[in-house]
Amino acid sequence: MNMLSHSFDDYNAHVEHLVRHFPLDVAMCKAIGCPDLEQFRITGDGQVAVLKHHGLKDGMSVYDLGCGSGRTAQALYRSGWKGHYRGADIIQKLVEYLNGQCPGYGAVVNRSLSIVAPDDSLDLVFHWASSLTCSSRNPTSSCRTRSGR
Ligand SMILES: C[S@@+](CC[C@H](N)C(=O)[O-])C[C@H]1O[C@@H](n2cnc3c(N)ncnc32)[C@H](O)[C@@H]1O
Repeated sequence: MNMLSHSFDDYNAHVEHLVRHFPLDVAMCKAIGCPDLEQFRITGDGQVAVLKHHGLKDGMSVYDLGCGSGRTAQALYRSGWKGHYRGADIIQKLVEYLNGQCPGYGAVVNRSLSIVAPDDSLDLVFHWASSLTCSSRNPTSSCRTRSGR
């Protein structure tokens, strides 16, 4: 078993456990390391403020790498931001929850070490997490943003 599938199996089992033992909204907070709904919301709003500070504008195409249950996506949605949102995560339950909470946003399950978007299709790629379950020995294929960064 390689490192990625080991991490995936453990995390997926953790999410399944939370879903069995908590109301769905609470399980989806805890699944990404947030203690409760209030913190989920406050932190998401803070994430959006940071993105705006770093240039997020209406009309942009953004990619949320490791989108989880949509803490950032839901905050973007609440904020009234108008743009094209794409998220990707390795855990299907989290992706399904995000898509249910944010109609019109598109999150997908992606377990490959790649960004699932064509070159020059994105304005901003962001990732909010303490760690990513990918091996530094396996090169991640890249996706060039419109600005070339
Ligand atoms: C701490 S959570 C943060 C979720 C979200 N970014 C947020 O701020 O609420 C980290 C997320 O990264 C996801 N993740 C971990 N490894 C990943 C990978 N290789 N590709 C995509 N997502 C990954 C996990 O499933 C988890 O949902």
